[in-house]
Amino acid sequence: MEITVIVAAGSGSRFGGDLPKQFLPLAGKPMLMHTIDAFRKALPAGRILLVLSPGMVPLWQNLCADHGMQSPEIIEGGSSRWESVKHAIDSLKGAPASATVLVHDGARPLVSAALIKRVLAYAKNTDGALPAIPVTDSIRKISENGVSSEAVDRAMYRAVQTPQAFSLWRLREAYSLPFEESFTDDASVIAAAGFENIVLVEGSPENIKVTTPIDLVIAEARLSMALDTPDTSNN
Ligand code: C5P
Repeated sequence: MEITVIVAAGSGSRFGGDLPKQFLPLAGKPMLMHTIDAFRKALPAGRILLVLSPGMVPLWQNLCADHGMQSPEIIEGGSSRWESVKHAIDSLKGAPASATVLVHDGARPLVSAALIKRVLAYAKNTDGALPAIPVTDSIRKISENGVSSEAVDRAMYRAVQTPQAFSLWRLREAYSLPFEESFTDDASVIAAAGFENIVLVEGSPENIKVTTPIDLVIAEARLSMALDTPDTSNN
């Protein structure tokens, strides 16, 4: 059994604007609808939980009515990504402990079915799986005082994406730990609970997290390309 948790309760402060970015139009519909569609296509029998900040629920319901979309189950978000995921995990009281849960950022609308299935396949016999890509920029590590910096070997680093997949029982255990600032994704929470066999799966440079306005332009261009060339399944 597969359950996807799509976290979309962020305020999008780095993006700017009145409306959080996940509700902005992208190739004809709100960004979040592309994200949901990707999971419905990849896992037609799967269950989806959509985490929204309570203040955004009426807007979302109106958008769904306008676009003829049936919303996934809505869960109330929290003040951090960690808290939003925790609310979703806590709401899964009746679900089997062995279920595989994929946690995905609502702001990654370009995720492909192939990537979702790849992550899921690796999560089955490990402590968890997450997509990652090599970093293309050179990387420098800044000192404690933030003034000096030194070059590091970028070949030793990977940029981490979502969806990240884990068994529900591991997530329950990990999300019962107190919050730490270093919890920027789910793999960091799982690792803090002592689960070490977390595998990196080939991610995709196209699976961007829409963070600044230029990312929205890139996503729009990619989606219009996809309409011309429907086979994007390997990315
Ligand atoms: O802030 P960041 O870009 O890392 O957020 C990643 C994802 O987590 C976004 O999809 C955002 O909507 C979600 N999030 C959330 N609840 C928060 C903060 C972020 O669901 N309080």
